[in-house]
Parts: sequence; C-alpha cells; structure tokens
Amino acid sequence: ATISPIPQPPTLPIVGNAHLVDKDLPINTFVNLAKQYGPIYQLTFPGPRTSIFASSLELVDQLCDQKRFRKNPKGVLKEVRHLVGDGLFTAFHGEAAWDIAHRVLVPAFGPAKIRGMFGSMADITSQLVGKWERFGPDYVIDANEDFTRLTFDVITLCAMSYRLNSFYSLEMSPFIKAMSSYLVECGNRARRPGFMQTYFSRTANVQFEADKKIMLDLTHEIIEKRKANIKAGPNDLLQLMLTSRDPVTGLGMSDENIASNLVTFLIAGHETTSGLLSFAVCHLLDNPSAYAKVRTEVDTVLRGEPIRPEHLGKLTYITAVLRETLRLRPPLPIFTVESVAEEEIVTCEGKQYIIPRDASTNVFVTQLHKDTSVWGEDAEVFRPERMLNGGFERAPVNAWKPWGNGSRACIGRPLAWQEALITLACVFQKFDLVHNDPAYQLSYKYTLTVKPRDFFIRAIPRPGAP
Ligand code: HEM
Repeated sequence: ATISPIPQPPTLPIVGNAHLVDKDLPINTFVNLAKQYGPIYQLTFPGPRTSIFASSLELVDQLCDQKRFRKNPKGVLKEVRHLVGDGLFTAFHGEAAWDIAHRVLVPAFGPAKIRGMFGSMADITSQLVGKWERFGPDYVIDANEDFTRLTFDVITLCAMSYRLNSFYSLEMSPFIKAMSSYLVECGNRARRPGFMQTYFSRTANVQFEADKKIMLDLTHEIIEKRKANIKAGPNDLLQLMLTSRDPVTGLGMSDENIASNLVTFLIAGHETTSGLLSFAVCHLLDNPSAYAKVRTEVDTVLRGEPIRPEHLGKLTYITAVLRETLRLRPPLPIFTVESVAEEEIVTCEGKQYIIPRDASTNVFVTQLHKDTSVWGEDAEVFRPERMLNGGFERAPVNAWKPWGNGSRACIGRPLAWQEALITLACVFQKFDLVHNDPAYQLSYKYTLTVKPRDFFIRAIPRPGAP
C-alpha cells in the first residue's frame, strides 16, 4: 500500500512550526490546525522534534492498542521530570520505579479506601460552603481559585493527612503559584531551541529553579514530619509509600521516588479536578434546564440532609453532567504515546501514514470528543442527557478518553470522581449560583491543563437550605 505524508503546515528554519503556536493558548492553535488539516497532522519543533496530532476515533482506536503504542514522556512531560523525575505520571516506559510504585499504590485507590476519604472530602467541602455563606451573595467568587483551594486541600488531607487550610487565607498557596508558573515554563522549554534555553533564558531559568524549590520544600517538610513520627502515622497514601513493600520484588519505594510521587499527587491530584468543577459549573449556569435538573436531583436525593456516602450512587444526573463536562472540556486536552516498534503504520480515512517511534504522537482528546460520527451533529453542545439511559455505556470504548489509556491511565479517577460529586451536590444544595457577568463567554486559561479563564460567580444562599 502507498504511504501518504502526514499533513503539515509550512516550516521555518530552526523553529520549524513553533512560531505558529499561540504562547498563551497552544490548545487553540492545535484546534484550528485540526480544523484546517484534518484528523492527523504534524508539527516540527526545535530539536528537531516531531509532534503528531490525532483526533478521530479511527486513529485513537489504533493509538490506544497497547501492543502497538505506549506512553513514554517526551517534550513537555520530559521537562516536568526536572521536578517529579520517575514519579508515576512522568516515568519513562520500562522504568523500574513505576512498576513498584504502581503496585504499591493501586490498592490505595480501591473502592473501600476512597469511601474512607469521604469524611475528609465532606470536611473540606463544608469549608468552601462556609466561606461562600459568610462572604454573602454580593461577594464575587473566583471559581477557579476556590475550587483549587478545595481540591488542593482535599488531596493534601486525603493523601498525606496534612491540613493546608487554604480557605483561611485570601492569598493562594505559594505552592499553587509556583506550580502554575513552573508548568507554563515546561511548555515554553519544550518549544525552545536548546541554545536559546542555555543562553537567552536566564531569568526564566532562575524562576524555574525557584518554583521547583518552593514545591520540593513543602513536600520534604511533609515527609520529614511524618518520618519523625512514623509509628503513629495515619493510614494514608504517604504512610503506605513509606512502609509498604512491593509484593513482586519485595522492594520498598526509594526516598527520592516517594518525594517525586508526593509532588506528583499534589499537582495531578488537584489541578485537573478543579478544572472539571469550574467547567461543570460554567456549563450549568449557561444551561438553565440542566441546572434545574441538578437542583431537583440534589433536593430529592439529599432531602435537606448533609451528604452521606450512600447518596453518591443516586446522583445520576450529576454523574451525567460530570461525564459530559469531561467530554466537552477534558482538563488534560492531550495525552502522548510513541510506537513500540521502530515505526508503525496507521490508517486514517483510507490512507496510511508512518508513525516513527521518536515522534510525540498526541491523542488530541479535546477534538476526539467532538467526533460527530460518535456524538452526532450536536457534538459541540453541552447536553448531559446524551450520557443517560445507557448513552455513556453505548459509546465506543475509545471515544471518551479524559483519563488517558491502559496501564498509564489516571490512578486518581475514583478520588476525583467522589470529590466532584460531593462538591457539586453540596454547593447546589446550599446556593443559587449565578454568573457575576451575565455576558461571560467561556474561554480557556492554560497551564498544562485547561480551565475557564476569568470565571467569576456569586453564590446566593437558597431560602430554607439546611
Ligand atoms: C494520569 C487525567 C485526577 C493522579 C492521568 C492521565 C490523565 C489524567 C489524562 C494520563 C496522562 C498521560 O497519559 O500522560 C485526570 C483528570 C482528573 C485527574 C481529568 C480529574 C478530573 C487525578 C487525581 C490524582 C491523579 C485526583 C491523584 C490522586 C494521576 C497520576 C497519573 C495520572 C499519578 C499517572 C498514572 C501513571 O502513569 O501511572 N490523569 N486526572 N489524577 N493521574 Fe490523573
């Protein structure tokens, strides 16, 4: 069969296609290029490095075959390794530390363990609700900030029994500021030629190191405190990492790998979940009928009482809202694989293309989730009903990939899910949420994840709410 060249926009010397990429919102460039060049296209970055973007179900079905393709960090994720090394998220394919940490940590995300986190999650949620109640209906809430306080406090409390008390401070935690600027710089580094990195990015490099230090200092503080009192330590993720042995090799996790995974949880554990919550609220405010159904469900299921674990399984409509939000606004818009063999041939719309192993092959989830052959002509519309009555289960297995793929898919899924359900139920039980600016138009803020930009709301206490 004949092989076709992968479509690509014209390149410039040295920078390749890097000049095309919007510095603030790379994702917009990638969406526009997908509209222009179709379900597969490629860009060249300094290095030179080739990035292939795939966005149809036909292609993603092939890229999610773990016998042919696997995760192996390159580009941006390789830059993030400066901070989190061989932690779960950024481990290279075949790195021994991944296998050990994965086997040690998977049980910590089982149903009973997640259920055990219910009280901590409800505790932090009550702090968010308490803040909004006390500030009152005229207070303008930066939704991203308060959802980030919530998810950050939840992950530190659930994973390491550490209270950050973010709701008692008007400033965001220094860790969060450092993390945003660090992740943005990782993206910049991945698009910069090497000589510019060394000679022309001194200020950025100093900031990069300073941000890294802030994050590692907090992590080491938490680890040292626990080690000092390890016998009396609570039964959480940190304790598990410090005390467990891998059932296969009999080895424990190294101190360095524990620190890497702790920072990994701090980052991966909150940034995405807070994006999911902001997007969900934003879509509900723009969809009065979906909003009304959420509220009816909360009132019927909770009956004016504080949320309990047994309520969660009954929140069917909110579950559909979360699934639909992850479809239309996946907080991680892209995940990246490489071919297992030196090269692989993929088929797309009757044509064949070569995927070399050294390319970064991006599953462009944001575009995949708008495939009209799966979701219909209204794929761009927020409509939770499409996820109800078996709609979600009927979708092809690789059509909805907000958690990544296979053995490298998100380990934190059940934690994020329970947290999101509790938060939405408690917030809509207590408040009538409104846009602060009724003319607000959703646009993106980008670090490595996406969130709604400048999204401000007000929370009006509901009469008669418990
Ligand atoms: C991996 C999404 C919440 C920890 C991933 C990946 C995605 C993802 C797409 C795969 C990345 C890749 O292939 O490169 C999300 C979303 C979340 C969320 C959308 C919330 C809505 C969480 C939480 C935690 C977490 C709460 C921690 C408790 C991780 C870790 C990995 C991962 C450790 C790496 C797994 C591995 O490779 O072994 N996540 N995540 N995530 N996530 Fe999440």
